Amino acid sequence: MKTITKITEMRNYVKERQRNGDTIGFVPTMGYLHAGHRALIKQAKQHNDVVIVSVFVNPLQFNQSSDLESYPRDFERDANILKQDGVEAVFYPDVDEMYPEDQSIELNVVRRTDVLCGKSRPGHFEGVVTVLSKLFNIIQPNQVYFGSKDAQQVAVVDALIQDLNFDIQLNPVSTVREADGLALSSRNVNLESFEREEAHHLFKSLLKGQDYIKSNQSWERSVVIDIIKKYLNEHTTGKIDYVDCLSFPNLNENIDPNHDIIIAVAIYYKKARLIDNLIMDST
Ligand code: PAJ
Repeated sequence: MKTITKITEMRNYVKERQRNGDTIGFVPTMGYLHAGHRALIKQAKQHNDVVIVSVFVNPLQFNQSSDLESYPRDFERDANILKQDGVEAVFYPDVDEMYPEDQSIELNVVRRTDVLCGKSRPGHFEGVVTVLSKLFNIIQPNQVYFGSKDAQQVAVVDALIQDLNFDIQLNPVSTVREADGLALSSRNVNLESFEREEAHHLFKSLLKGQDYIKSNQSWERSVVIDIIKKYLNEHTTGKIDYVDCLSFPNLNENIDPNHDIIIAVAIYYKKARLIDNLIMDST
């Protein structure tokens, strides 16, 4: 596996592969890889001739410097995992390589971000679409892979690809979970042991919400939210950031029968903020 740290070298590698007629699958990550990331890589391997993974902790998408500092990093470990998974190249630039000077251009996300994580993390999705636009331009993938665990990110990337006419196919991949239901996340290592023990209740709360929707034809959004909040308050010590139930992927409060439905939660623990969601069809 090639480890590439410079943009010019990455471009040359991509050009060479494109000359061979190879299709490129791309999996952007911030590293500290786990089985969730590996599920994206596995799908990318199945669909493409070459798989490129990026490992870059993007400072632009962190709105709290403490969160950026505590973000776990271990490139050697990541590189071993990527080698085992048969990835052809990893793009591992440093911050100066990606952001050499103050930017003159800023991207602004004006829809799909006034709810869920966008509401509690101002500037986060602007940072995400900026780094992804740069990575998409550098790597020029045919297909990209994103986890449904970050469903709002999928919705925003879907809009980015459509609105800016990237010639790229977006592939959402189902959330990978621990045996008790907790969604895998690089941030889980920052949980205290009692927090880890109760964290599976995030997923359980979503299942409660889903049960209510499935068993009531004339269900109400506010009731879904109340059921989930009550369950979380009874079963976890974390502070609720949000609980919501929206149309997907447009993330509107008006549930549209032609669209899927997302129910989503976020909880603050002492050193980690956890998110989870379920996407269901509205029939
Ligand atoms: P990161 O948090 O490292 O996640 C990289 C990809 O792995 C994302 O698409 C995320 O949704 C997916 N992922 C994480 N946990 C998962 C799980 N349990 N099951 C399935 N997929 C999972 O998301 C980012 O990085 C960044 O915002 C990035 C897109 C790289 C831009 O900086």
